[in-house]
Amino acid sequence: MSKAKKWIPVLVAGAVAVTALSACGKSNDNQESGGSGGGGGGEKTIGVAIYKFDDTFMTGVRNAISDAANGKAKVDIVDSQNSQPTQNDKVDLFISKKYDAMAINAVDRTAAGVIIDKAKAANIPVVFLNREPLADDMKKWDKVYYVGAKAEQSGTMEGELLVDYWKAHPEADKNKDGVIQYVMLKGEPGHQDAELRTKFSIQAIEDAGLKVEKVAEDTAMWDRAKAQDKMATFLSAHGDKIEAVLANNDDMALGAIEALKAAGYFKDGKYIPVVGVDATAPALQALSDGTLLGTVLNDAKNQGAATFKLALALANGETPSKDNTGYDITDGKYVWIPYKKITKDNMDDAK
Ligand code: GAL
Ligand code: CA
Repeated sequence: MSKAKKWIPVLVAGAVAVTALSACGKSNDNQESGGSGGGGGGEKTIGVAIYKFDDTFMTGVRNAISDAANGKAKVDIVDSQNSQPTQNDKVDLFISKKYDAMAINAVDRTAAGVIIDKAKAANIPVVFLNREPLADDMKKWDKVYYVGAKAEQSGTMEGELLVDYWKAHPEADKNKDGVIQYVMLKGEPGHQDAELRTKFSIQAIEDAGLKVEKVAEDTAMWDRAKAQDKMATFLSAHGDKIEAVLANNDDMALGAIEALKAAGYFKDGKYIPVVGVDATAPALQALSDGTLLGTVLNDAKNQGAATFKLALALANGETPSKDNTGYDITDGKYVWIPYKKITKDNMDDAK
């Protein structure tokens, strides 16, 4: 908890530094732009900046964007390498090339305001995805959209997966105290999915009438190897006192499973429930192996397709609607792709 709170100011401070940096950087070639889009014919080009390519779930979204674009428009998809200054440079490049629309998976979601200012000055519409800009930034311009999923919904579903297991398996309460002793592996602090999955997963468990005790919580930054390390640390400090593992995503759940295997779990009847979010291919494999208890489908295919369809409509000078995108637009700016609970029993729904 206190750790997460400490991180947020760091992120904000980072965003301020980024703002200062980009303010003195290039990008003064906006005068004659206004985008080459609008009514003009010819193939449109959409600049897509992903926060980093080395992220399992975002790789799925990235592939879905190029699949959706196939034969319909050109997409220039670039890697921001988890650096906001790098991403700002990529945005400057998209603007200088007069692309028709941009799709941005912000490195630091609080930096969206700067990107919106630049996009607006160049009249190039922007669709943000996966990392939700602050509401005030979203209001800065009418050609700004967001495609994502409701973080609290995934948290609630993740908690419910554990509730179902707990209720069906009294032996899961190893010390028989009527309380779930759990550890939490968090994604990047400040990311809406990390904060809200953490909060709502536990809330769902409490709402189901179960008691919880947090044994440990730490961030592993969405990363499998980092989660393996953190879980090994938790195990050496608390050992068999831990009765459940909640991870904000599947990569971290899989890292935890590695550490648990090394500690003798998942053989000779030694089991512990581990839940994640995303339903990535390796997570589905773990479900069928019986190591991962459950996950929540974070629908990369529809998030990628919706991002592309909104960007294309905007590139064509249209206002995105259900008619021209196939997706419901909420509050004139948001497309929410639903999550879905996945266990071994309905795994095929996630393939
Ligand atoms: C989340 C996803 C994580 C990670 C993150 C990146 O929605 O569950 O695995 O990809 O987005 O922003
Ligand atoms: Ca217990």
